[in-house]
Amino acid sequence: MSTADFSQPLKFAYWVPNVSGGLVVSTIEQRTGWDFEYNRKLARIAEDAGFEYALSQTRYAASYGADKQHEATAFSLALLAATEKLKVIAAVHPGMWHPGVLAKFIITADAISNGRAAVNIVSGWLKSEFTGFGLPWLEHDERYVRTEEFIRVLRGLWTEQHYTQAGKYYNITDFTLSPAPVEVPGRAHPEIFFGGNSTAAQATAGRVADWYFSNGKDLEGFRENIAGVRASAAAAGRHPRFGLNGFVIARDSEKEARETLREIVAKAHRPAVEGFRDAVQEAGPSTHDGKGMWADSSFEDLIQYNDGFRTQLIGTPEQIAERIIEYKKLGVNLMLTCYLHFQEEVEAFGRDVLPIVRSLEADLADRAGVDFHLPTPSTVKAGL
Ligand SMILES: Cc1cc2nc3c(=O)[nH]c(=O)nc-3n(C[C@H](O)[C@H](O)[C@H](O)COP(=O)(O)O)c2cc1C
Repeated sequence: MSTADFSQPLKFAYWVPNVSGGLVVSTIEQRTGWDFEYNRKLARIAEDAGFEYALSQTRYAASYGADKQHEATAFSLALLAATEKLKVIAAVHPGMWHPGVLAKFIITADAISNGRAAVNIVSGWLKSEFTGFGLPWLEHDERYVRTEEFIRVLRGLWTEQHYTQAGKYYNITDFTLSPAPVEVPGRAHPEIFFGGNSTAAQATAGRVADWYFSNGKDLEGFRENIAGVRASAAAAGRHPRFGLNGFVIARDSEKEARETLREIVAKAHRPAVEGFRDAVQEAGPSTHDGKGMWADSSFEDLIQYNDGFRTQLIGTPEQIAERIIEYKKLGVNLMLTCYLHFQEEVEAFGRDVLPIVRSLEADLADRAGVDFHLPTPSTVKAGL
């Protein structure tokens, strides 16, 4: 499997702020709303700025200071209806949904949006959401056994008629969903993203995911994180693509950007970060090999609760663009971004950072002797 594709432009996504408190657990000013009106405007700004995807998070109870939350699938559907090009990825927990119900829901969202619905399958770490709902809380690696079955059901129901699957967690018998998802060139069915960094997560993602998301990582961490996915995918003859989270602080000078990071950290909401650190012991730290999300996160890392500072998208637009290209060389296909002030900074990213990225990508392709295809409105719409 090739390590990096220099002919294809990088894709960009932003985290939908559908929970309160912004994307950093800090009392620093965050001009980011979590209400629908704020998000509707943000989604339109993002699609005009060159973002292809938005990712909603799924959260049922307060954690990391996010005291209030909007449900991910409902919110994503509303954003799809409010936009024209943006693909909206709704995060879902297998333990909370039956895959057949979700498959049907997403087909409807796909019909309403003309083929722009997607899902991010997340296996869960906030135990109290499950136990509080009276749902079983599975041990870490067992969650991925269920997740794999769940994704196979989704794909089966989206692509086959009279679908049957017998398993430990789900049994589907001779089932046909009609209508099927919208036919979109370059896409077999609504795209299936996958979040989870542990060894079990990597192995599962390689076998069944279309896209694998890494939490924030430095270059070496990213390389190491996707190696397991690549090995598992190669054994299954599959070619998943890779996304990476990063918190963007783009300022006129590096000094100013670093100063902003220092202020975020200095104003960290300590009890909320510490509560989060306790809760995530159910994720990476609970695995047999001690690998996985948040297994080695520092207090500072946890302030951006998806380790987004580690990716180091911090500095001038030029520095950030150069850093993004380093990740592209390692195999990143999509950068998932978050900000202090979403509307303003998503717009600024499209204006100041993206053109530099495109020009560096063209140079990279030129040096590698491959043609570089800049995204056009029609290829963005078709998901190519
Ligand atoms: C990009 C990304 C988005 C995620 N979104 C959510 C989410 O919305 N809700 C959630 O409970 N977990 C979310 N997760 C966490 C994963 O579901 C999983 O619990 C976590 O990665 C720990 O997995 P691990 O222990 O296998 O590394 C996300 C993970 C990533 C990388």
